[in-house]
Amino acid sequence: MKFNTKTIHGGQKPDAAYGAIMPPIYQTSTFAQSTPGGHKGYEYARSANPTRHALEEAFASIENGKFGLAFGSGLAAIDAVLKLLKPGDEVLSTNDLYSGTYRLFTKIYEDFGIKFNFIGMQNANHIEDYITDSTKLIWVETPTNPMMHIIDIVTTANIAKKHKVLFAVDNTFATPYLQQPLDLGADIVMHSATKYLGGHSDLVMGALVVKDKELAERLYFIQNASGAICGPQDAFLALRGIKTLHVRMQRHCENGRAVAEYLDNHPKIEKVYWPGFKHHPNHAIAKTQMRDFGGMVSFTTKGNNYEASIKIVENLKIFTLAESLGGVESLAGHPASMTHASIPKKDREKIGVVDSLIRLSVGIEDEADLIADLKQAIG
Ligand SMILES: Cc1ncc(COP(=O)(O)O)c(C=O)c1O
Repeated sequence: MKFNTKTIHGGQKPDAAYGAIMPPIYQTSTFAQSTPGGHKGYEYARSANPTRHALEEAFASIENGKFGLAFGSGLAAIDAVLKLLKPGDEVLSTNDLYSGTYRLFTKIYEDFGIKFNFIGMQNANHIEDYITDSTKLIWVETPTNPMMHIIDIVTTANIAKKHKVLFAVDNTFATPYLQQPLDLGADIVMHSATKYLGGHSDLVMGALVVKDKELAERLYFIQNASGAICGPQDAFLALRGIKTLHVRMQRHCENGRAVAEYLDNHPKIEKVYWPGFKHHPNHAIAKTQMRDFGGMVSFTTKGNNYEASIKIVENLKIFTLAESLGGVESLAGHPASMTHASIPKKDREKIGVVDSLIRLSVGIEDEADLIADLKQAIG
């Protein structure tokens, strides 16, 4: 099945009871048993629920994996991966990272004795220099949030395999429409399904997808034992969202390109970060592992002018100033004070998250309206 068919049919069968074409919302906490253990595949909804199960099958299908797991948020999904580790284990991670992930790593898991090493991974060959006997997990985002660096998934996967280290990719920005990390050698794909997979800014959810059965069983054990599952209504909404992922992503990419090119030619804009530019330092890798370049664009104003950037985000009318990304509507954010505020200023600035940085999640509205909005806001 091709990707554009998988988004609609992947892992989906009409409901066994009445043939409903969409999986019904099984709003129930438990399931009747005829005798102890005599049930129809479901006993208690934390362990499994038919609506969530349908979504988990869809997650696995679109990421070319075998096993999908749905969680109550992206961070709950990341939390489940970290629970595979033990005190003394080390994690190697990109230094440009969603700040909630950074906060979970450094403010929760460091206290449990896990060590984190945040490094620039734009040159993937250097990753090997940082692997020790204790390294058990490599965690990357690509493109990274918000600097839009691209990490070479194949090279990183080969290094991880050589050292028997688990390799996880947060695929939230790219989505499986643009890249499928499991096919490139990653062990775990993670999503904040809150973003493009849901696609309509109406739910909070996380996803993990793996190919390996033993790893899936360990993660399923953690999902059930810790209980950070999503509810059936949200599972239904995510399933509905995924059905249009390919058409939404096509438009996100077209509009993302138009916005990036407009900003790149604007005299009041200093730098534009978007992996589709030939002058993006990782463009060559982006071209090999991504089908297109997505709808996320970051930029700074001339002279790193904080006041000018704040004016822009306040002036925007179609772009809404808000946290999050990946919905049909365009959003603008100021990472230093919003999504990345939990990273200390000096660490933020080292990786380029300066006070004038603006991050756009370019939606699927009319391209001309989006450009006109940026034009009037920048002035
Ligand atoms: C790249 C990335 N990963 C993970 C998360 C966390 O996901 P959630 O907000 O669904 O917990 C986010 C949220 O913005 C994100 O942007």
